[in-house]
Formats: sequence, C-alpha cells, structure tokens
Amino acid sequence: MTERPYVTLSCAMSIDGYLDGDPPRRLAMSNAADFDRVDEVRAGHDAIMVGASTLRRDNPRLLVRSAERRMRRVEAGMPAGPAKVTVTSSGDLPRDAAFFTAGDVDRYVYAPVARARRLRSRIAGAATVVGLGERVTMAAVLDDLADRGIRRLMVEGGGQLLTQFLADDLVDELQLVIAPFFVGESRAPRVVGPGAFPWTAARRAPLAETRQVGDVVLLRYALSERFGRPAPVLRAQPRQLATLGAR
Ligand SMILES: NC(=O)c1ccc[n+]([C@@H]2O[C@H](COP(=O)([O-])OP(=O)(O)OC[C@H]3O[C@@H](n4cnc5c(N)ncnc54)[C@H](OP(=O)(O)O)[C@@H]3O)[C@@H](O)[C@H]2O)c1
Repeated sequence: MTERPYVTLSCAMSIDGYLDGDPPRRLAMSNAADFDRVDEVRAGHDAIMVGASTLRRDNPRLLVRSAERRMRRVEAGMPAGPAKVTVTSSGDLPRDAAFFTAGDVDRYVYAPVARARRLRSRIAGAATVVGLGERVTMAAVLDDLADRGIRRLMVEGGGQLLTQFLADDLVDELQLVIAPFFVGESRAPRVVGPGAFPWTAARRAPLAETRQVGDVVLLRYALSERFGRPAPVLRAQPRQLATLGAR
C-alpha cells in the first residue's frame, strides 16, 4: 500500500481561538509577510485541501502566487501549482468558484458515493469527483490521494476539516498562526470543534518552533515522527536558485 501523504495543517486564529468573524463578516487573520510564508509552504506541497464551506465562503484560489516559486517547482519536475482538493456531503459547490476556474492544476472533489454520482454530472470536466463510501473519512481521502501520487498535503481549513484531521491523528505538522486580536462572536467558526484529540494535558504536543512574523506569531508543532521531512522543492532550492540567478 502507498504511504499516506505527509500532512501539514496550516491556519490562523485570533487570540480567542476563532478562524474568522461571525458570518458574513470576514476577517483577515494574517499579514502580508505571513501570506508570503504560507505561499512558500504551499509551494512545497503536492496538494492543498479546504472544506466546502471555506470554498463557498472565502472563494480561495489556492495557487502559488510567486512566479519564482512556480518556476522552482517546474524545474524540480513538478506541476507549477499544487493540486486542489475539497470534500462535500451536500454537493453544493459553485461551478464558477475560483477552486474550479483559477489555475491549470488537478482538482479533486471527495463526496459520499451517492452524492458523487450527481456531482460528477454537474461539474463534469472541472474536477475529478471521487465517491468514498457512505461517509467520507479523512483517512480514506489520504489513501486515495496517495494512490494518485500526492506525497504532501497541506490542509488550510476550515474548522471542520482541521477537527477531523487532528482527531483522527492524521497530521504530521501543525502550523498555527496567532493573530493579535479577539473576535468574541459566539457564532464565528472556532479553530476546532469538540473531539477526542490525541494531544491532551497528559500527552502534550511537541512544540518544534516559534517564529514572530510581523505582528503575528507562528507556532509549529511536530505531531508525528515524520515531522520535518523535507519538501522536494525546498530541498532542491539552493541549486535551483543558483540556476535562476544565472539567467
Ligand atoms: N483563519 C484561517 O486560517 C482559515 C482557514 C480556512 C478557513 N477559515 C474559515 O473557516 C470557516 C469555515 O470553516 P468551517 O468549519 O465552517 O467549514 P470547513 O471545514 O471549511 O468546511 C466544512 C464543510 O466541508 C464539508 N465536509 C467536511 N467534512 C466532511 C466529510 N467528512 N464528508 C463530507 N463533507 C465534509 C461539508 O460540506 P457541505 O456543507 O458541502 O456538505 C462541510 O459543511 C470560514 O469562515 C473560513 O473563512 C479560516
């Protein structure tokens, strides 16, 4: 069986643990320097995943913005951008969402088998729709992505997705950014919902790094023994940057 992809969870939350404001209010948690850091992290992954609510609400493009990073990927024999992945049980995915329209990359939509059939005809050609059982589990998504050649998956939220990956102990690395403000709105999405998480007061998550990025702070937690496994593109960086510099 193919090894499961290395999973990096990446998200930004307020000091009081919210991912966003009370809908429809949307809040920018991060700053420009941190968005650029996230772009670098994206460039080191084969695929980026968001939940369907994030896809509908934020309409993210999920692309590598830096032309230099895209070029580095191509020089390392990878597609210019990571594949895009989402999961839905309702099948309510707008066909004109940036997930489908932005960038020339592979796209995968996971759904329960019964929903996948209808979804396939509705978004024909825009993405590969994969039906996975009666209820989609993140473990099954990872196994399927591994079979499709995905070795590194970056999960960017929202809270429902983060909760499932963490509670199912499928995460190698958590990159948590703390924004310097409070949200304080009871209906706003929290970073995770209730769950039986493997990291408890009795089993504390190993903190591998803290880094200040302007007015936010990045916390990196090592959640598996695979933590820190280098990304192929990043590993190849010095040689490729030298090559780029010579042009
Ligand atoms: N601050 C950050 O770093 C950050 C990052 C990302 C998102 N966000 C914010 O997070 C909020 C959204 O978070 P959220 O927790 O509400 O939603 P979410 O995790 O983005 O998406 C949840 C949706 O994904 C689908 N889904 C999740 N698990 C599934 C499963 N096992 N099987 C089938 N479908 C599944 C369902 O879609 P259907 O409803 O279609 O069935 C579900 O409603 C937004 O406000 C967004 O801005 C913040």
